[in-house]
Amino acid sequence: MLRVENLSKTFNIHILDNKVINAFCDVSFHLKRGEFLGLSGPSGSGKSTILKCIYRAYLSSGGNIWFDSAEYGKLNIATAPNHAILNIRRREVGYVSQFLKVIPRVPAIDIVAEPLVTKSRLSLDKARTRAGELLERLDIPPYLFDAYPCSFSGGEQQRVNIARAVIWTPRLLLLDEPTASLDKDSIAVVTDLLKELKYEGTTMIGIFHDRIIIDSVTDKKYEMNQGVTVHAAQ
Ligand SMILES: Nc1ncnc2c1ncn2[C@@H]1O[C@H](COP(=O)(O)OP(=O)(O)OP(=O)(O)O)[C@@H](O)[C@H]1O
Ligand SMILES: [Mg+2]
Repeated sequence: MLRVENLSKTFNIHILDNKVINAFCDVSFHLKRGEFLGLSGPSGSGKSTILKCIYRAYLSSGGNIWFDSAEYGKLNIATAPNHAILNIRRREVGYVSQFLKVIPRVPAIDIVAEPLVTKSRLSLDKARTRAGELLERLDIPPYLFDAYPCSFSGGEQQRVNIARAVIWTPRLLLLDEPTASLDKDSIAVVTDLLKELKYEGTTMIGIFHDRIIIDSVTDKKYEMNQGVTVHAAQ
């Protein structure tokens, strides 16, 4: 599903006299359909930058990112034209960051339902029903469904963010610390949701600090500067 080959990324910092920062270099791994890779390593070692290169929020500096696209077949995300990238983001690849990008004056339930309407072409009614079930599982009280998430707590916003990411079944899902401020109970629910998504065939790459998630849902680990180790998920 995904083959990352000798990927590297450098940043040229103009305000520092074009100083070159090596975010990461020579990263290689591959994932079959439904496999889950955990990325780990010290702060600043390039984990988030790898996900952003795979999402093509950043152009990589060297190497290839071969993605098995439903629409395009084998597609090199590192060099593919912008319209192909926009299409796979719309239909095939999801990206979740640590913080919810709150859309002003859109209620929580519609933020979560939206991908089902736009990506999976479900009716708004059905999408809202599914969104409500998911928010309930994530312990968001029903009186908050129609409220605006900008007033939610950090943990509530993260749960809305995760609900929006897992409600559709992307071919590839990139998760950048989406559980950082969740308590143990919420983490257990998120772990179950990610397992369900994996079972449905979504391939995932995630950065997590919580060992429970890493140990229970990932199949492989990529340790920055050390490479891949494979382990059996529990
Ligand atoms: N847009 C950017 N411009 C310049 N340098 C950047 C940019 N994004 C990241 N970097 C640099 O690349 C390196 C890797 O950053 P990155 O955010 O990928 O680390 P990380 O492993 O995700 O760290 P953390 O665990 O703290 O989130 C850092 O030295 C960072 O300063
Ligand atoms: Mg990071």
